[in-house]
Amino acid sequence: MHILSIETSCDDTAVAIIRWDGQSATVLANTVSSQIALHTKWGGVVPALASREHLANIVPVIEETFAKAHLTKEDIDLIAVTEGPGLMPALVIGVSAAKTLALVWNKPLIGIQHIEGHIYANFLGKNKNDQNMFPLIALVVSGGHTQLVLMQKHFEYTILGETKDDAAGEAFDKVARLLGLPYPGGPEIDKRARAFRENHTAEEIQEVTKKFPRPMLTSDNFDFSFSGLKTAVLYALKKESAEILKDEACINSECHAFQEAVVDVLVAKTKKAITRYHPKTFVIAGGVSANTRLRERLQNTLDELNLEVKLLSEKTSFLTPEFVYSLDNAVMIGIAAAFRYERMNEEQKKQLKDTPLSLDPNANLPLQNFSY
Ligand code: KG4
Ligand code: ZN
Repeated sequence: MHILSIETSCDDTAVAIIRWDGQSATVLANTVSSQIALHTKWGGVVPALASREHLANIVPVIEETFAKAHLTKEDIDLIAVTEGPGLMPALVIGVSAAKTLALVWNKPLIGIQHIEGHIYANFLGKNKNDQNMFPLIALVVSGGHTQLVLMQKHFEYTILGETKDDAAGEAFDKVARLLGLPYPGGPEIDKRARAFRENHTAEEIQEVTKKFPRPMLTSDNFDFSFSGLKTAVLYALKKESAEILKDEACINSECHAFQEAVVDVLVAKTKKAITRYHPKTFVIAGGVSANTRLRERLQNTLDELNLEVKLLSEKTSFLTPEFVYSLDNAVMIGIAAAFRYERMNEEQKKQLKDTPLSLDPNANLPLQNFSY
């Protein structure tokens, strides 16, 4: 089975074709047309501009993806599209394109929740019968979401905790802006924090690491808060001379101090969740999961926790999406679609084919449970 998938929830026009062989998914073609250059001069994503770009790019990106996969429309068995959450003017372009193709080509159409897609990016190449993966805990860290999610089985989500204000990615982007760095802030802060660590002694690093607060670090739940941290960076910058924003070494030091505070909180809450629920699998999902320091610290934490358990069956394995599938892409939407479609009965599949026009974008769509 071949799945054509489309993702336009924010500032990437993404299209992919994956193959589902009845057991697992492989990627045949993956195209992402980024709009970063367009939005960077505004310091963030401008929804109306994103929409216009998606509209200009969607057809060429679909054509390019078919060419790369050496397939034609006759080879497609299912069309999948991001239904939400995201920016409405952006979502609407992908959903309209997917509905039109489904109607004209007479193919089934399935809507996928964006965060579900990020989680399922970790299932690329995984066998559908691998029940050893559950229970699973996902740390979802993107531009719009920060959540710890528990899954006892496929498509069954319990949100253990989430951010009370800014998402982790949003905090990276806002702090980058305060520091005069380009959008998106995450990759830039990641790179500069690494440069700081490479150029300083352990003692110097230790000193800077303590600079900012760790909001909700010890709170008795799995929730997060990042807006106070952003304000702490703002106040620190106000107190210091404006000259520091002209000094690369000072900016790198701020990047390290901020990133370390975010990572400390994400790691602490993850550790608490893993200790409480003993999942077989832990995955990270969303754009911030590309952060090299977060990956390194989570890996160390998992290694430590795994040393404490005696039985192999009690160990938690750590899955990370490949870097290209950490950021927004359509492959993840195709994978989630494959696992869902696989579980549907003939009646449910027929419904997808008969009613493509009933799918509408939903800017606030939450994670939803599906029992098949
Ligand atoms: O998942 P994503 O591509 O889009 C949303 O669904 O929101 O996540 C985008 C977010 C942005 O806030 C970006 O700054 C952040 O992911 N990001 C990173 C890194 N790469 C992207 N944050 C920290 N470190 C990175 N290396
Ligand atoms: Zn995303």
